[in-house]
Amino acid sequence: MSHPSTPQEPYAAYQNEIYLGGLSGVVPEYPMAFAELEERARHAMPATVWSYVAGGAGDEHTQNANRAAFAHWGLVPRMLVGADRRDLSVDLFGLKLPSPLFMAPVGVLGICARDGHGDLATARAAARTGVPMIASTLSADPLEEVAAEFGDTPGFFQLYTPTDRALAESLVQRAEKAGFAGIVVTLDTWIAGWRPRDLATSNFPQLRGHCLANYTSDPAFRALLPRGRTADPDPRDTALTWAGIFGNPLTWDDLPWLRSLTTLPLILKGICHPDDVRRAKDLGVDGIYCSTHGGRQANGGLPALDALPDVVEAADGLPVLFDSGVRSGADVVKALALGATAVGIGRPYTYGLALGGTDGVVHVLRALLAEADLTMAVDGYPTLADLTPEALRHVCGGGGPLPPTGAWPRPGQGGGVAATG
Ligand SMILES: Cc1cc2nc3c(=O)[nH]c(=O)nc-3n(C[C@H](O)[C@H](O)[C@H](O)COP(=O)(O)O)c2cc1C
Repeated sequence: MSHPSTPQEPYAAYQNEIYLGGLSGVVPEYPMAFAELEERARHAMPATVWSYVAGGAGDEHTQNANRAAFAHWGLVPRMLVGADRRDLSVDLFGLKLPSPLFMAPVGVLGICARDGHGDLATARAAARTGVPMIASTLSADPLEEVAAEFGDTPGFFQLYTPTDRALAESLVQRAEKAGFAGIVVTLDTWIAGWRPRDLATSNFPQLRGHCLANYTSDPAFRALLPRGRTADPDPRDTALTWAGIFGNPLTWDDLPWLRSLTTLPLILKGICHPDDVRRAKDLGVDGIYCSTHGGRQANGGLPALDALPDVVEAADGLPVLFDSGVRSGADVVKALALGATAVGIGRPYTYGLALGGTDGVVHVLRALLAEADLTMAVDGYPTLADLTPEALRHVCGGGGPLPPTGAWPRPGQGGGVAATG
């Protein structure tokens, strides 16, 4: 299937498809509004899996603030632009992508799908839509099998850096060999945040042996098992060995080593401070990934969107990937206007996966892209280059003093934590 980004078939065409279907009595199988998507996914998933996916750290203030931050910005409509053709394509690490949307790594996709192979189903959705998947280290199928489903769409591998360096090197080498287009190193999850929903059910999926295929398929990991390289390791041994090596509290001193592991683009995930951006840039990374992990790690209260402008400024031309709280096409547009090069979603596509496997993910991606495309059409911003901070205004009632027209608020000027309520 050709990607729906071609001039012949803009993303907005999804709405025509739906309305025309209505003429034959067909209504969409999957939800059109995020609230319904979330609600239906809740019923489609086992209770513990649902609470693991939907929940966040602490009282979930950061998780909620991530979403609320988008409401503090409004896109200024511009008329008589004639935006009948939109171009959402983006250049990222030398790749020409049909849109700036990507699927953030979710380390429990495997068990979110009814057949237990959610990583493969998601990779197939990437192939069908042209929306890249960042495949998590934590997957139910080995990374080679996930990559084999990408079709012509590039994919990225997300590394949770283990304490065992030989295993880290092996995972990166396998990802290179499997054809991944870049390595995303997640920095904010070397230890799990305090997650009351999961604590209340004593549930941590990987400790129960789920989504560890990249480890069990790796010779460097198998060598760490108590009984050596066994053909069929005991699941308890696997889980405990995994828990022992999972999280590496990396420091800046480790970055040259990480950089030396691959010639692929190296992207650091979880960066929110401009000083960290500058330091990472000096040490030769290729991209910055601004994220608060969807509010699942530290419940410190800063919405990722509020961190984005300073991160973009410090990145000074280096690509900035962004996620946390994106729930609509309008959110995608706002993050782009604040300087993101590419915008990721986590929970929304995971809910689509739970509801309808590959078809469910494809629906969520197409709906988000159609809404982003239509927002750009209606408000007169035909290309991503037109989406600059000048296109946004701080919204009255969002809280805090209004910044000067056309500017974004800096820390201390409103629109930050205090404004999120
Ligand atoms: C259930 C779940 C599992 C996740 N697993 C990973 C992971 O394995 N690696 C990672 O870097 N981020 C992981 N994340 C964080 C996402 O990559 C992303 O930062 C976050 O979901 C974005 O926020 P959103 O869910 O509000 O879109 C996970 C998120 C969720 C919801």
